[in-house]
Amino acid sequence: MALWSGRFEEGVDDFTQRFGASLPVDKRMYAQDIAGSRAHAKMLAATGVISAQDAQEIDAGLAGVLADIEAGTFVFDINDEDIHMAIEGELTRRIGSAGARLHTGRSRNDQTITDTRLLVKDFCVQLMRGNLALRQALVNQAKAHPEVVMPGYTHMQHAQPVLFAHHMLAYYWMFQRDFGRIAAALQAADVNPLGSAALAGTTYPLDRRMTAQELGFSQVTPNSLDAVSNRDFLLDLQYACSVTMIHLSRLAEEIILWSTQEFGFITLSDSYSTGSSIMPQKKNPDFAELIRGKSGRVVGDLMSLLMVMKGLPLAYNKDMQEDKEGAIDAFDTVCDSMRCMCGMIETMQIHPDAMMESARKGHMAATDVADYLAKKGLPFREAHAVVGHLVLLCEKRGCQLDDLSLSDFKAECDLFEADITEQLDLPSIVRARTTEGGTSPQAVAVQMQAVEETMAHD
Ligand code: ARG
Repeated sequence: MALWSGRFEEGVDDFTQRFGASLPVDKRMYAQDIAGSRAHAKMLAATGVISAQDAQEIDAGLAGVLADIEAGTFVFDINDEDIHMAIEGELTRRIGSAGARLHTGRSRNDQTITDTRLLVKDFCVQLMRGNLALRQALVNQAKAHPEVVMPGYTHMQHAQPVLFAHHMLAYYWMFQRDFGRIAAALQAADVNPLGSAALAGTTYPLDRRMTAQELGFSQVTPNSLDAVSNRDFLLDLQYACSVTMIHLSRLAEEIILWSTQEFGFITLSDSYSTGSSIMPQKKNPDFAELIRGKSGRVVGDLMSLLMVMKGLPLAYNKDMQEDKEGAIDAFDTVCDSMRCMCGMIETMQIHPDAMMESARKGHMAATDVADYLAKKGLPFREAHAVVGHLVLLCEKRGCQLDDLSLSDFKAECDLFEADITEQLDLPSIVRARTTEGGTSPQAVAVQMQAVEETMAHD
């Protein structure tokens, strides 16, 4: 019989019992549930609601339950409905009436959200660790190849040459901002709702500051109705997870492109690739593709919770039991995806020659040639048109700008001198982009200092 069965004459049938149960999902919070109960019992004794003897028996009993769950010997029964009743029921079977006093001044409504907040705090710490490891892998690749030049793209067309290190660090900053979003979710979760009871608070003299301190919450919730109804911190977590997955997916997409025959910019290590069951030559970037694919799941998890919460009246509604499955799925997926991406980045091989060879195509010096004329006094728009004609000439001849002779240049504009060849050299084009945040090795070195500062701070 369920712990709430007093006013019922019949039990639910097997199907509805399973349909209504959250145990398969919320057993993931067993450690948080036990920590919450231990703090609650200690506080009940400190405020004189239960005896010190009862609190001591509860604490020892819960320690035993925890040990059994961790040893894998605890038998979960779907008839217990959720982790809260599974643990409390077992405790009472073990220690009798002291166990039956544990739920004094508490509801599963404040209990479940306390556990969830503790779980989310733990998730955030793990996500931050994974995020830092991934960022370090990007920094290491950038540092290992400080001079490598690659094509930079807009519209997937060759635009201007950039440093490979600059490209890696672009992803660094995306993940650095994700770290901030995860930290914000952690802060949102870091508020103690315990003591809100079902929805209105209780008649017992609960010390909510004490349970907050016991559980490591830095604040207490100011409104009991809001406390049991609020799932914002889960949305914050899932938003942070979603944006992280979008960033991972974009990086995965570039890795997939870069490892094609057409690009050949990188080779993935064998441990991050798979073969084909029919085509013996194949080496597929499956794991990058899987990360790209899993981003859909995580964004879907965020959408699910937004839809669950939409239109729910205060306070607790059973709809909200749907909150954890997606959040746990999003967390697990992001953790695994970050770990996989970290290993892939650490072990991939870079092919600077292929990057340089590709960068020679597509007239990527054109902006610099136009700037050359503009710096000699020609209005930039006119310079743009001159170089446009030169590019057209190259297209017709099937050559690149650096294949043209000085007289070809002079035929378009007599401001061209012999020093134009310097404007066509890709490394010097990159070197010239010294703007703060630009791609020159010098600017990237300054950027790297900011990177190191954020790594040390986060
Ligand atoms: N299993 C429930 C959940 O996850 C716990 C709270 C249930 N409270 C209730 N009154 N039915 O949301």
